[in-house]
Amino acid sequence: MSTLPPLLGHPVRHPGPDDHLPVLAVLDEWWGGLGGEEGSRQRALLLPKLMFQHFTGSSFLVTADERIVAFLIGFLSPSRPAESYIHFVGVDPAERGRGLGAALYERFFAYSRAHGRSVVRAITSPVNKGSHAFHTRMGFVTEPGPKEFEGLPVQPDYDGPGLDRLSFRKDL
Ligand SMILES: CC(C)(COP(=O)(O)OP(=O)(O)OC[C@H]1O[C@@H](n2cnc3c(N)ncnc32)[C@H](O)[C@@H]1OP(=O)(O)O)[C@@H](O)C(=O)NCCC(=O)NCCS
Repeated sequence: MSTLPPLLGHPVRHPGPDDHLPVLAVLDEWWGGLGGEEGSRQRALLLPKLMFQHFTGSSFLVTADERIVAFLIGFLSPSRPAESYIHFVGVDPAERGRGLGAALYERFFAYSRAHGRSVVRAITSPVNKGSHAFHTRMGFVTEPGPKEFEGLPVQPDYDGPGLDRLSFRKDL
């Protein structure tokens, strides 16, 4: 596994298949049980092993004493040559508010630019207010939608029946 420049003093590497279960193991704690059992099930299903097999070069994992403290799973869109996509990001609650999430995003933006991408996309659940605040702070625009949830524009049934999402776009 190649070593990358550190982020805020923490070692960074690309994830691999052996990181799959350790990352799944932190999801419930890091998301604070958001969305209850159904939220927990949906999050685990969003991170199948294939993400740790086929999307590793564009994904980043941050450690402290070998422990995972942050991760970003993203990819260069195979179908939209100008776009890249951040699929999943998480920072250990104990490490939040120190710029680690922002630094991970900047690393992915740089990776995207270096590969000729000019747009980054991401989505999140409308109930995830922290994610909306973070993405807005990182320069993402929440795309207009036909529905509203607590003042935010929502894409109804975006990921399937009943699975509404906020859709974020950032021009690099
Ligand atoms: C969202 C998350 C990745 C942010 O990580 P972080 O390391 O705490 O973020 P940073 O410290 O780099 O913050 C960057 C900026 O976003 C803002 N921000 C981050 N989280 C925020 C929140 N919950 N509410 C409001 N603003 C927030 C910070 O204040 C900071 O702005 P500033 O530069 O003006 O101070 C982290 O809170 C997390 O893992 N949350 C749970 C998982 C999740 O929701 N992931 C996203 C959806 S997949």
